[in-house]
Amino acid sequence: MLDIRVLKALALTFFLSFTAGALLAQEGDLDRGEEIYIKRCLQCHGEDGDGLGPAAERLNPPPRDFSLGLYKFVTSGFDADMPNDGDMIRMITDGMPGTAMPGWGDMLSEQDILDVLVYIKYFAELEDEPETQTDFGVQVASSPESIAAGRVLFEENDRCTECHGAEGRGDGIKRLRDDNGDRTWPRNLTKPWTFRASNDPRDIFARISIGIPTTQMPSFADPASNKSLTIEERWNVANYVASLAKTEEVVNPANFVVQGTRAEGALPTTPDDEIWASLKSSTFMMVPQIVGGERFFTTANDTITVRALYDDAKVAIHLEWDDRTKSIPGDAKAASIADAELYEDAVAIQLPREIPTGMEKPYFLMGDGTDPVNLWRWSSGSTDKPESAGIVDAMGIEDQQPRGDSGDFQATGSFLNGTWRVVMTRSLRTSAPETDLQFEEGRFVPISFFAWDGSNSETGTGHSMTTWYWLQLKPAPSMKPIFYGALAGLLMFLVLIWWGAKGAARGRKARDDAA
Ligand code: HEC
Ligand code: HEC
Repeated sequence: MLDIRVLKALALTFFLSFTAGALLAQEGDLDRGEEIYIKRCLQCHGEDGDGLGPAAERLNPPPRDFSLGLYKFVTSGFDADMPNDGDMIRMITDGMPGTAMPGWGDMLSEQDILDVLVYIKYFAELEDEPETQTDFGVQVASSPESIAAGRVLFEENDRCTECHGAEGRGDGIKRLRDDNGDRTWPRNLTKPWTFRASNDPRDIFARISIGIPTTQMPSFADPASNKSLTIEERWNVANYVASLAKTEEVVNPANFVVQGTRAEGALPTTPDDEIWASLKSSTFMMVPQIVGGERFFTTANDTITVRALYDDAKVAIHLEWDDRTKSIPGDAKAASIADAELYEDAVAIQLPREIPTGMEKPYFLMGDGTDPVNLWRWSSGSTDKPESAGIVDAMGIEDQQPRGDSGDFQATGSFLNGTWRVVMTRSLRTSAPETDLQFEEGRFVPISFFAWDGSNSETGTGHSMTTWYWLQLKPAPSMKPIFYGALAGLLMFLVLIWWGAKGAARGRKARDDAA
């Protein structure tokens, strides 16, 4: 059999003879490009550019297969069969948020990027230029009128709601696969930090016009589509989509404390009570649990928003997080959308068993023998059983004991348009101070959160989680010391998660080497 390198050299000569002119024009150097590729890109995109690098296995979405020459975030025409160089340069420079594709702008020079571009184009022997370009026309500035017009078009004929849902949270209930057969989810348009390009109207206009090649996201410039839109209409829809961004609530690193408010009347017991929306909220970043037990790298939930109210007797904590699917085991429709295994959706609050005296907190993943934790847990239920709630005593991930009797602890949830809202209540003080946290007004209580998306096969130790934050019933005069302590804590947490990911990679390499 011919050596792969010989084949490559042959392909290369062939390719060069066609594209020599183009190479000169963009001044990329193929040999330097190969060197950079081997060092920086091969681990994910693979030696042959087929997207099957050693790290690819646990990435979702998977690395691009350059041998197909198909790119997603392009500005060439919807009917062109290749991107503009500028499109690829942009993705290489800035990276692709919400995926493993890093931005290289800080590490590689402009020349390096041109060199590596020539190399990745060679995998598919891409010609020098796309035959058609997207017409951006005259941009319509955002205004209340444009946004309102865009909303009508977004909903009309189920044009965008079909996949992106009534409020744009990506909860249009359908099972989608891309051309490679990989599972894809419509983007949650309220979370601009998950956009691969950006939520600038110009980028959104490009996506609406061209679609996202190889995925189910269609082109709305294609006159063959019965849902196609004029240029002006596409700008209106783009302005509407940009207006969906949750700006107030987006994770704010300076925000480390859930401020509990003293209730003026009776504590609300339902998650949809209007009072919750009027309270100050804190939104925290969630990351995959990859430190202990069975790890899970591709969790679906990435943020959780928390509010708290209390009175003389009880505390009520309100949790809100986006989840595209209501996961109901036993339900045929839910099963048809879910990944292989369908479990209940669930959420948990983690609290230490005692309020620590200093800044010390239990181990962030379910405590340990010295510092046990209480988990307040809620699960969404299945066709056979209603939602359920209870307290779990944990001393580490391997030692979790659900209680037979959880006292007056209660939790209830409601799901609407891609968002779960759950409220949990418990007495401030209980008759079992040796096992239950006793709340005290004004004290800082460590608190953290776990969430499971059952349609994404998350169960047991496969879940997303936050690091420790603080709950304080009653605002403090100054939060500076807490802020710096918590910032250090967050950094530690990210280092541990990163270390967990490296550990898994080392483990797999060792297995591969042994095999
Ligand atoms: C840690 C893994 C990883 C590394 C390293 C990596 N990539 Fe990627 N890359 C990805 C993933 C994952 C995607 C697919 C994202 C998606 O489909 O949304 C991707 C997509 C791309 C795309 C497609 C953009 C589009 O619009 O379709 C280009 C171009 C690209 N990578 C170039 C590079 C280059 C050049 C390097 C090295 C300098 C590199 N990548 C290194 C993971 C990686
Ligand atoms: C048939 C399903 C479907 C329809 C209809 C649809 N989308 Fe999408 N959309 C998707 C999928 C799937 C993705 C994610 C693709 C991927 O894997 O990157 C997506 C991604 C997007 C993105 C993300 C861009 C980025 O930079 O990450 C935007 C914006 C978007 N869609 C807007 C719209 C708008 C506006 C409409 C209506 C005019 C629409 N979509 C209609 C399926 C759809």
